[in-house]
Amino acid sequence: MFSAALSDRLLFFRKFLASPRKTGSVTPSSRYLTGKIFKGADWSKIRCIAELGAGTGVFTDYIERHRQSGCKAVIFEQDNRMRDSLMLRYPDMNFAAEAELLPWVLSSLGTGSADLIISGLPFSTLPRSLTLRILGCVRESLAEGGRFVAFQYSPALLPLFRRFFPEVKVSLELRNLPPALIFDCSL
Ligand SMILES: C[S@@+](CC[C@H](N)C(=O)[O-])C[C@H]1O[C@@H](n2cnc3c(N)ncnc32)[C@H](O)[C@@H]1O
Repeated sequence: MFSAALSDRLLFFRKFLASPRKTGSVTPSSRYLTGKIFKGADWSKIRCIAELGAGTGVFTDYIERHRQSGCKAVIFEQDNRMRDSLMLRYPDMNFAAEAELLPWVLSSLGTGSADLIISGLPFSTLPRSLTLRILGCVRESLAEGGRFVAFQYSPALLPLFRRFFPEVKVSLELRNLPPALIFDCSL
């Protein structure tokens, strides 16, 4: 499955109505945005990948189809219903609720760091203190030569990303609802 199924879209929309600031969007990301998030990923070198804010799993599905044997996948989603459904769908992956637990979850798995960390978290609507904490955790958890790739719907977070990561490349995906900016960050 590459685009979200109708049941996933409905679940996502219900979660948005119940908790708009945490959900951050009315619908799952498109396959076009998914392609941009993973552009340039060298799967032969990724031994551990972390996903923050998985929602109904459009990026998780891509990870499942591309990761090579031996690559650990650690998926964070705070919503119990969405996380439970992903756990059933991807029994070989590791799951946790809060993205701010990233360093502790990685060390509990015996992997101190991740080569690729991707994010669907709605940083612009999360509390500022939480956003700062999560970005600090990401910086601490990136392996040498690793990348952090996040999307947002506005450029407002660019100065903040630049504070945490010396190198930030920005690209745009118009074929997404709403159009999204992709921030490709490295140390
Ligand atoms: C904009 S949705 C993105 C979902 C999916 N990645 C996509 O692109 O379709 C953001 C997701 O982040 C989750 N979320 C928000 N705060 C979180 C946190 N602190 N830790 C983990 N997940 C969080 C929300 O429940 C929601 O599912």
